[in-house]
Amino acid sequence: MEVRDDHRSQLKIGVLASGRGSNLQAILDATLDGRLPAEVAVVISDDPQAYALERARTHGIPLHSVELAGKPSKQAYEEEIVRILREHGVGLVCLAGYMRIVSPVMLRAFPNRMINIHPSLLPSFPGLHAQRQALDYGVRFSGCTVHFVDEGVDSGPIIIQAVVPVLQDDTEDTLSARILEQEHRIYVEAVRLYALGKLTIKGRKVCYDNPTK
Ligand code: GRF
Repeated sequence: MEVRDDHRSQLKIGVLASGRGSNLQAILDATLDGRLPAEVAVVISDDPQAYALERARTHGIPLHSVELAGKPSKQAYEEEIVRILREHGVGLVCLAGYMRIVSPVMLRAFPNRMINIHPSLLPSFPGLHAQRQALDYGVRFSGCTVHFVDEGVDSGPIIIQAVVPVLQDDTEDTLSARILEQEHRIYVEAVRLYALGKLTIKGRKVCYDNPTK
């Protein structure tokens, strides 16, 4: 299934982030210096203190803080997010350190139009503290994965992965820092392929070799 049929118009990205937002920054920088044929149309956080919102403010990008607390339900919370994303004409939702599991409300609103970055070589070490899980397990290589979002936890079709060696004296911090460098690189590349309409999902597999685009 081709996932972006309107690839001739400029892609509008909505970024959901709960924290510091370095992946948001990588995407923003790439849109601003012309590496990415897309614009960040809106940034949404579930935490009003998230530094990601500050980054959006600095660049004059529309930003919203939508808190789950005070909403009657998770459904109502996600419906508000969907409304904001639609209001800004978002064609691709990028989860960038968004610390909540996405429910069918958002998935149905953006089918095959939501991607996530995870700091491990999936399907190894999904969920929280992926870098610590990798260290504790004793793997020699870890890395990061950009994937489409489905109903599971970090389980959707994989777009790009990068491998990072685990060094003998690595701590969670040192390993995370080296993985993060690769996250910034592959997240931009995944969004670029999406923006150019090059991605096709076939079952679990994502192909990006469509030569006609
Ligand atoms: C990244 O390691 C990302 O893979 C994970 O959360 C972290 C977010 O970092 N999902 P940042 O907020 O983008 O700096």
